[in-house]
Amino acid sequence: MSVAKKEYKRVTVKSLGDMKKHGEKISMLTAYDFSMAKILDNAGLDVMLVGDSASNVMAGHETTLPITLDQMIYHASSVVRAANRALVVVDLPFGSYQSDPKEALRSSIRIMKESGAHAIKLEGGKEIKESIKRILHAGIPVMGHLGLTPQSIYKFGSYTVRAKEDAEAEKLKEDALLLEKLGCFAIVLEKVPAKLAKEVANSLTIPVIGIGAGNGVDGQVLVVHDMLGMTHEFSPRFLRRYLNLYDEMTSAVSQYVTDVKAVNFPSDQEQY
Ligand code: KIV
Repeated sequence: MSVAKKEYKRVTVKSLGDMKKHGEKISMLTAYDFSMAKILDNAGLDVMLVGDSASNVMAGHETTLPITLDQMIYHASSVVRAANRALVVVDLPFGSYQSDPKEALRSSIRIMKESGAHAIKLEGGKEIKESIKRILHAGIPVMGHLGLTPQSIYKFGSYTVRAKEDAEAEKLKEDALLLEKLGCFAIVLEKVPAKLAKEVANSLTIPVIGIGAGNGVDGQVLVVHDMLGMTHEFSPRFLRRYLNLYDEMTSAVSQYVTDVKAVNFPSDQEQY
């Protein structure tokens, strides 16, 4: 399906709202380093999310919990240096905002000041309302994140689909409305039934960006290493792999090893 696409020289939080108004879907991927971010930005991606999934993807941790604020700022600064067009949103990591609103504001200010990013994202609804208010009062744009919130993985016990039951779906809808009312510029909905996600997107004026939330929302986000097929153990139903880089890179590296061992690299033309 072709959609009229307005040209944005620089994507801002306002552009995202305009995209929703005009029915243009928002494209978002994670980014954690300069080289990858350069490719994503040049390819015309709207939003680069410096996700705390860096904890899994870049550092090899089992969960997103161990990554620190300093580490997030390091990743975010690298991505910001590559961003000419895309909006850069950075996750507040676990432990940097849950204890009180003042701490949440301090952490957000550090991200904005030290990395040059354009917005922050945090997980949760009503329970972190005061923190969201305080961050917004400081002029920092906030993206919400509801549904499966990986920082609460030990409370959920698993990464299964959230809000299948009525009570949880009701709470999610209330939280989404609250986030919009507070002034968040967008919401990520992770791993919830497509019907519910569509209902939430239709009930809000701010964009709802889904991951594992169907196509009735205002945009999509994936972890870039997953969609490029650099990871291969992780295969949820919602993931579309656009490449199989794990196999391609493995075969390139194994060819390099063979060439080095056989003194087949460098050739006469590849030396001085
Ligand atoms: O950290 C992350 O990668 C995320 C996306 C899954 C939305 O929050």
